[in-house]
Amino acid sequence: MPIPSKWIYTSKKLDCCPKFCKFVKLSEKPVEAKAYVSSIGVYDFFVNGKKQGNAFFAPGWTSCKRVQYQEYDITESIESEKCELSILVGDGYALGDISSHHIRPNGSNHFFDHISVCATVIFKFKDGRKKIVHTDSSWEVFTSSVLYSDFYHGEIFDTTVKDEKICNAELDFSVTAKLVPQQGEIVCAHEKFEAKRLFVSPKGEKIIDFGQNLAGFVEITVPLGVEGKIVLSHAEVLDKDGNFYNENLQRAKAKIEYVLDGKTKVYAPHFTYQGFRYVRIDEYPNVEINIDNFKSVAIYSNIKRTGEFSCGNQKINRLYENILWSQKSNFIDIPTDCPQRSERLGWTGDAQVFCRSACINYNVKTFFDKWLTDMSLEQKENGAIPDVIPAVFLGKASSVWGDAAVICPWEIYLAYGDKQKLRKYYPMMKKWVKYIQIQKGVKEDNLWVGGNHYGDWLALDAGEGKLLGSTQIDLIASAFYFYSVTICQNVAKILKYYDDEKEFSLLSISIKNAFQSAFLENGKPKIYPKGDGDLNIPHNGDYDRPISNNTQTALALILRFGLCEDKDRQNLAELLARKVYSDGKLTTGFVGTPHILHALSENGYCDIAYNLLLSEKNPSWLFAVNQGATTIWEHWDSLKENGEFWDKDMNSFNHYAYGSVFDWIFGVAMGVKVKENGAGYKKFIFKPNPDKRISPAKASIETKQGKISVAWEWENDSYKYYIEIPSKTEVEVILEGKSSIVINKKGKYAF
Ligand code: BGC
Repeated sequence: MPIPSKWIYTSKKLDCCPKFCKFVKLSEKPVEAKAYVSSIGVYDFFVNGKKQGNAFFAPGWTSCKRVQYQEYDITESIESEKCELSILVGDGYALGDISSHHIRPNGSNHFFDHISVCATVIFKFKDGRKKIVHTDSSWEVFTSSVLYSDFYHGEIFDTTVKDEKICNAELDFSVTAKLVPQQGEIVCAHEKFEAKRLFVSPKGEKIIDFGQNLAGFVEITVPLGVEGKIVLSHAEVLDKDGNFYNENLQRAKAKIEYVLDGKTKVYAPHFTYQGFRYVRIDEYPNVEINIDNFKSVAIYSNIKRTGEFSCGNQKINRLYENILWSQKSNFIDIPTDCPQRSERLGWTGDAQVFCRSACINYNVKTFFDKWLTDMSLEQKENGAIPDVIPAVFLGKASSVWGDAAVICPWEIYLAYGDKQKLRKYYPMMKKWVKYIQIQKGVKEDNLWVGGNHYGDWLALDAGEGKLLGSTQIDLIASAFYFYSVTICQNVAKILKYYDDEKEFSLLSISIKNAFQSAFLENGKPKIYPKGDGDLNIPHNGDYDRPISNNTQTALALILRFGLCEDKDRQNLAELLARKVYSDGKLTTGFVGTPHILHALSENGYCDIAYNLLLSEKNPSWLFAVNQGATTIWEHWDSLKENGEFWDKDMNSFNHYAYGSVFDWIFGVAMGVKVKENGAGYKKFIFKPNPDKRISPAKASIETKQGKISVAWEWENDSYKYYIEIPSKTEVEVILEGKSSIVINKKGKYAF
């Protein structure tokens, strides 16, 4: 904070969210007033009863080593010499159930053990005088009508309860987190959906359908004079009989209770959000329900949309919408895995997988910068990267997930071209590689064998109901070790760390050699007998599974990362194409899915990549679309053909990981690919791979230099291509059967 302040709290236990208030008497109306506010917990800041700013969940979610503060210009809210400052605080990220995943050595399951606030308010008067108000023990603690609030479980908001002074605040010396200015975009309200229909389910439940799965809340307008209680439960899907279904929320109660005072008109929760499309009305006052009074409101970080895409295939267009909705629903201050169940955590693997698509759809440079800052703060001394950032637990520090520390900064660099940021994250990237090097097998054999990993998470090739696909875990871990090292080598070169570049280059050669002798024989993948990554996984239930490297995922990784000898590339690609044909479907999970279409199209099998993209059989992207999905599902078969669910436990209908297919649609089908030596789309390749089944197709991306637009269509027996580039941009156009040309003049071109 520009002028630091003291933290205050109350040692009294209240049965509601506390409100810290200060009544300031000014000598006159100020010409300017600014406030700087932060909290342990999440807060809303009011001046003379008016909420300041439009952010939800300030001060945001960061590593517990730091806490953001927000700046407010409150001049407009002070009309006279009277100024009532109040800060309402909920448990939020710091103290709510969301951070209780790990029991800490002191027996507590949170990093903090109570709500605190900290604020500085500076008033300026017309004669140049200043008055500064700090949080201190003169602030008073009041009860509030927010009786309960938790991200997972919902909120109880009783407007009949009057605020009551309890005591004065006490100084709090326990907060050691560093105060830092707001780094990322704030979370705020965006789209609003009308209720589509109100219906009674076979079980007799009153259910409202808003038509779109999203993360946010329901806003209810209650006519004046209506008293009583409204209770709502949230769900993403209905069961096969059309009943309300929320068993997939794990322990999240996702319930909202409003007690009406007959006066208040619009009800919305303060410190919670839910992932939902449907609400069940569990209680309602004794008046007719008018669905026009219900709206669902989407909330997400205030990121700017940059990418656009549409094509002649409506199912692919819906898939694209679903990808955007899963991004919006999970870009709520940090990249989360899902917005509905009792997780909503910054799972690194998921973010790594989706990062490139995320950067096309939205400008996520600052969003990721904030999250990666926390990642580097949470990195352990030995280089381990916790599985979730902010680190509410350490997890396995596993391959693919931990590799996010290398892959995400790299993707962000390619998308936005900011070398400074790359330099900022380079130590974290290097340290992750060092961490891999102290793992079993790496020193002796240049392979990561053993360790605790998630494998090809949720792949279906190990059989129904298994969590880990069948690809050998040591192959995945070693392939990603290689990939991370090659990225570090590129980065060292860009940053002119030539010694490091040389070291990484030699290392990548050794890993490649080791990989080839362990996992390839006569140009085909094989099981590495010394691999024991699978031994650490309990061999029972979900994890007990057949292991093979003749899998779509293994082949896709080998081809994509360049782990084979050049002479074997075509054979391996053919093997992959045949495998897809004989399997008759995708069998990849979180690890293989982002790579399989690229591995096919980069090696002459673009038609097969399209077949997979356009397949409608379970499992496929369009299977979910046909099942009525409005977001991307966690499992290929979250909802099966017969209307049954994959499982009741781990079954999110809003997980963006498989939405990573958009980077293939944009980069290969539309053909727009940034060049490493032109990061930020200063230089890019336009090498479209058209297919009549989705023609006509167009896409665009807003870059720092301006908008790049491309399109292609099948017309009069041939393809026509269009491109428009802004100034300071160079494109290499590579069209089938023609020699490539380079264009660096702003304008529209047709071929
Ligand atoms: C999350 C995932 C995550 C995984 C780790 C799950 O519970 O929802 O998306 O990556 O755990 O395997």
